[in-house]
Amino acid sequence: MALLKNHQWIYTKRPQSIVTNEHYTLKESTIDTSTIKEGEALLQSKYWSVDPYMRIQQSQHNTWEAPHPLYTVQGGAVVGQVLVCNDPKSNIKTGDWVLSYTGWQEYAVTKTSELRKLNPNEVPVTTALGILGMPARIAYFGLIEAGIPKEGETVAVSGASGAVGQIVVQIAKIKGCKVIGIAGSDEKLAYLKNVLGVDQVINYKKYPSHQKIKESIKEACPEGIDIYYDNVGGFITDAIFELINHKARIIVCGQISQYSGGLDTPEMGPRFLHHILYKRATIQGVLARDYNDRMDEMLSEMTPWTKNGSLKYQETIIDGFENLPIALNMLFHGKNKGKLMVKSTI
Ligand SMILES: NC(=O)c1ccc[n+]([C@@H]2O[C@H](COP(=O)([O-])OP(=O)(O)OC[C@H]3O[C@@H](n4cnc5c(N)ncnc54)[C@H](OP(=O)(O)O)[C@@H]3O)[C@@H](O)[C@H]2O)c1
Repeated sequence: MALLKNHQWIYTKRPQSIVTNEHYTLKESTIDTSTIKEGEALLQSKYWSVDPYMRIQQSQHNTWEAPHPLYTVQGGAVVGQVLVCNDPKSNIKTGDWVLSYTGWQEYAVTKTSELRKLNPNEVPVTTALGILGMPARIAYFGLIEAGIPKEGETVAVSGASGAVGQIVVQIAKIKGCKVIGIAGSDEKLAYLKNVLGVDQVINYKKYPSHQKIKESIKEACPEGIDIYYDNVGGFITDAIFELINHKARIIVCGQISQYSGGLDTPEMGPRFLHHILYKRATIQGVLARDYNDRMDEMLSEMTPWTKNGSLKYQETIIDGFENLPIALNMLFHGKNKGKLMVKSTI
């Protein structure tokens, strides 16, 4: 028997506004490595995903599921290595890199059937959390199946410099669309324009109201907007509703501007549904988990694009398990570029 010291971030308090360290408690415990049951593996977490949906699930209200339970380990995707595998029938072996959903803990015991094996010789393992992971799944299927982009159309993307947004803008370019990217700093805009080839960029922080940003978006795309891929909501979305074209498709992927309180106490904005009527437009919400069983289909298209450099990606990697709650807070201050994750230092 060997006892392994484990640390876990336990979600202990529901935030009313922005999430911080005070909503989590660090717990120390032990794992007895001799108790791994048949069909299970012991993992050492190496990279933890940090995602906006974690804050959605902290709302007091049901969303697509019940709120994240208090006094449990913060759930989330993890890239780790298998230390012990007690499943001779599985393709998972000791030493393998895997993707799991074991959350914010240094070590975890899980069923091998819940692991996805990664090939570190093909692409860096961190890509399983971003450019070839859940954000890619919703970027790809959300744009292709809800957006149905056609060559020459104009696609506007809010949250364009984030994990999902950077992928959406690039797929839209691959599909021959004109792309307008909206993000929160000039440095992010420069990357979108100069590296990812986005046609027009707008820093939403320079506009105090939906009316002002609307004028700027209209100037950037006088031909109007055929597809709006919304990661943010709020006044950016209010402005875009007034600029949509006939038969426009609006894809609601996220509403991050509303997560830090607005989900429990909604902020009222302009009433814009009349634009949907005039333009015979559609609005569709999209959820990554609805495409779980189509992961291989997405990877078969996106892995070659990633390997040959047609798809570029940024990752913001914060060192140290102890910094996980701080990293989550960073998302709501725009401190990440591309996929945000935390790296183990042990
Ligand atoms: N439907 C699904 O299945 C699904 C899956 C994954 C993600 N999502 C959603 O997609 C969105 C992006 O997720 P992600 O993982 O790619 O995160 P991300 O974009 O990498 O990170 C969040 C970014 O949101 C921006 N932001 C934060 N507060 C904002 C505000 N008040 N107004 C405008 N922008 C704000 C910040 O960038 P700036 O510097 O530009 O402000 C920040 O960097 C989120 O809304 C998320 O919930 C949905």
